[in-house]
Amino acid sequence: MRIAVVGSGYVGLVTGTCFADMGHEVLLVDNNDQKLAELGSGDVPIHERFLPELLARHRGKKIKFSNDLQAAVRACDAIFIAVGTPATDRGDADLSYVESVAREIAGAVDSYKIVVEKSTVPVYTSQWIRTVIIRNGANPASFDLASNPEFLREGTAVTDFLYPDRIVVGVESDRCAQVLREIYAPLTSGDYYSRADAIPRPDRAQIPPRLIITSTRSAELIKHASNAFLAMKISFINAVASICESVGANVQQVCDGIGSDSRIGPRFLNPGIGYGGSCFPKDLMAFRAVAKECGYDFRLLDEVMRINEDQRHRFLKKVRSVLWTLRGKRLGVLGLAFKGGTDDIRESPAILLVQELLREGCHICAHDPAAMDRAKEVLPASVEYTSGPYEAATGADALLILTEWEEFAGLELDRLRNLLKYPIVIDGRNLYDPAVMSAHGFSYYSVGRPETLTEDSTAAVRPDKRHIF
Ligand code: UGA
Repeated sequence: MRIAVVGSGYVGLVTGTCFADMGHEVLLVDNNDQKLAELGSGDVPIHERFLPELLARHRGKKIKFSNDLQAAVRACDAIFIAVGTPATDRGDADLSYVESVAREIAGAVDSYKIVVEKSTVPVYTSQWIRTVIIRNGANPASFDLASNPEFLREGTAVTDFLYPDRIVVGVESDRCAQVLREIYAPLTSGDYYSRADAIPRPDRAQIPPRLIITSTRSAELIKHASNAFLAMKISFINAVASICESVGANVQQVCDGIGSDSRIGPRFLNPGIGYGGSCFPKDLMAFRAVAKECGYDFRLLDEVMRINEDQRHRFLKKVRSVLWTLRGKRLGVLGLAFKGGTDDIRESPAILLVQELLREGCHICAHDPAAMDRAKEVLPASVEYTSGPYEAATGADALLILTEWEEFAGLELDRLRNLLKYPIVIDGRNLYDPAVMSAHGFSYYSVGRPETLTEDSTAAVRPDKRHIF
């Protein structure tokens, strides 16, 4: 299949590269010439596992870069729209990039094409794209619109694409469904997985994946509803973690108990400092806005967002209650990215917390395996960046863990304790076992689990906050 992917951002680049690895001929289209030149010369603009290898494998062969959208439309059977849909001030999605791509596509439809929305968009967008393409002169019989939402997580996007839980395809005609079936056939037939050079299979992957064919509207809703549900799961467990803190229960044990109910499942039940990133916060607001427009007041989503924000404030309160005053305190910070495995800091709870701690007069000494360059663009110059986690801890009044990087979960604890000024770790991601931390002489505070205190801990003088229910 010849496939044009419009937009070389996160979704477009991963989608185009994975289609190339599945054997398709891909034209990746963008109007940013500098970006295209960088991609063409071997740069990989995002931190994503397996992407550099796959781009090196297919660049200039199965994947080519172009700034000519109309030529790409004429040359391809399928055009995937993967441009940005940022949030407006009102919280809904700004679809102007999608619209301008649709206008341009209209002038180039010269034989049967399928136009597929890949960007995360509100329900009814595919209908609007179709209207815009027809209004701008295309013959309605010469193309079909489809919705094929992505469920890629940053950091594991390549494996998520090639080993998906499911492939959702929203269509309005059998002809269009057939084209999409062919595009995904290397995965759904299992052929891709028998190749010696296939990207390695992750744990839990069900192969071959299931292809779910729906209407376009249902597919659009599946995307928003999936992200909203996952965010709700996180906020739910964060709320439960707060109750655990009040009563002295252990949220890990609670998670184990509820997550082993197969109807609930254990994933996305990790409490912490809240969700961030470029998807959940934006998509929840957009879903809230679209629901309102459709006449449904989805207040549950307000609560999910409120709990998420609250989670950060609760963590800050914890830092304050452990350290008493904050002005002038030196804090080691592990993690700036919105989650582990990525250099993305958009809506990162870690960045928001660091900004708050700086406002309170703390000195921050931070380390992140990938996101420090990005962080430097948004944080004040007073933040010190270190080459590793131990350097961030050196001489610090306390160590804060703000991102769930694997690298932070296996630190040498005795070395860490000796480097810190006081053996205090405040873990916003529950990376350590409290009993182990206690055995290594730390005062250890995490989310939703009992604290462990050393004898000389300043926290020992704190009033007991526990409530009796
Ligand atoms: C999310 C979805 O997981 C993808 O399925 C979806 O395709 C993507 O958004 C998107 O719409 O494009 P992503 O934003 O990359 O993917 O990150 P997640 O792995 O979902 O994590 C989101 C946030 O939730 C992170 O800040 C993470 O630390 C937090 N999180 C996640 C928790 O606090 N607890 C958990 O149990 C899981």
